[in-house]
Amino acid sequence: SKGDYPHYMLKEIHEQSTALRQTLSMALTDERIDESCLGDNAANILAGIEAVQICACGTSYHAGLVGRHLIETLAKRPCWVEHASEFRYRDPVVPANTLFVVLSQSGETADTLAALRYARTAGYAASLAICNVASSSLVRESDLQFLTQAGPEIGVASTKAFTTQLLGLDILALLLARHNGMDAITEAAITKHSLKKACFAVESVLSLDEQIRDIAQQLVDKQHTLFLGRGVMYPIALEGALKLKEISYIHADAYPGGELKHGPLALVDEDMPVIATAPGDKLFAKIQANLQEVEARGGQLFVFTDRPECFTASERCQVITMPHVDDILAPLVYTIPLQLLAYHVSVIRGNNVDQPRNLAKSVTVE
Ligand code: M6R
Repeated sequence: SKGDYPHYMLKEIHEQSTALRQTLSMALTDERIDESCLGDNAANILAGIEAVQICACGTSYHAGLVGRHLIETLAKRPCWVEHASEFRYRDPVVPANTLFVVLSQSGETADTLAALRYARTAGYAASLAICNVASSSLVRESDLQFLTQAGPEIGVASTKAFTTQLLGLDILALLLARHNGMDAITEAAITKHSLKKACFAVESVLSLDEQIRDIAQQLVDKQHTLFLGRGVMYPIALEGALKLKEISYIHADAYPGGELKHGPLALVDEDMPVIATAPGDKLFAKIQANLQEVEARGGQLFVFTDRPECFTASERCQVITMPHVDDILAPLVYTIPLQLLAYHVSVIRGNNVDQPRNLAKSVTVE
């Protein structure tokens, strides 16, 4: 049931800190990630892995894009990510000792299942499903499984499944790192100071709700929106844009900030809201410069940042202050306000939030 919430989506947004806590505690034994959270044979299999191929659809694909950054940064292993619907139609060349990873809330998405079945015949070293449904086809048909503990997700717009997938990918990246030279002290520090803080960080940004509703009010009559992010935040811009178009029916595009001047800057005028995620990470100065370009063209900026002092707030540049979090947590934490933004725009427009037109919760046909 929805309990006291008007919609499942809002309930599920609020359940994220619990979902993260449960997902992490399932993976830990004595405060350390236990390899068996991926299955009994995980240690043997992961020891031989040198590269990762991820396939997924929609929101799960965006989690995969974040996963690439995590796997390359933490485990120093090459990682490729592809839409499951495209993957099997291009005769992929399979590098030796590559783990094939599928991400899915439902575990029944036809394209993702077909990609897994294809991969199992194509020479991958092993397969892993990061999935929210224990009894699903993806879980049954893969060699390894990581079960996110998000609980049932009813709203068609995926929320808590996504953030728990991100946590699952953090865990996978750390396990691969363990087999590729990361020392136990570094791993313990990341587990303690990043992963174990995820649920608190996510909870703390829920208090931005009123401010976000105010922004939603400013978006309801717009035709188009642009989401920007850089590095690991670009997939979060993609996810923010997908959430908005899916339930508000407002056109939303997402770009890495550096691509602006290669085309989309031509769209920017006073009727174009630009929503940016700008955590104070190594690319902060880059996104800041990109946003100055938007401002100079008269765009309407909404900036989510933990460095508000670096922006001059005005009617045309509204700054939403985010908490400081470790780089590894930023994708998780910056997702929450974008989910809330899409939710409020949808509610104000009078749409069916939980059951948007033309969409199904689980896409079991190609
Ligand atoms: O169940 P899955 O994670 O495999 O579903 C994949 C997509 O269909 C799904 O994420 C879809 O994009 C959501 N409705 C997005 O909110």
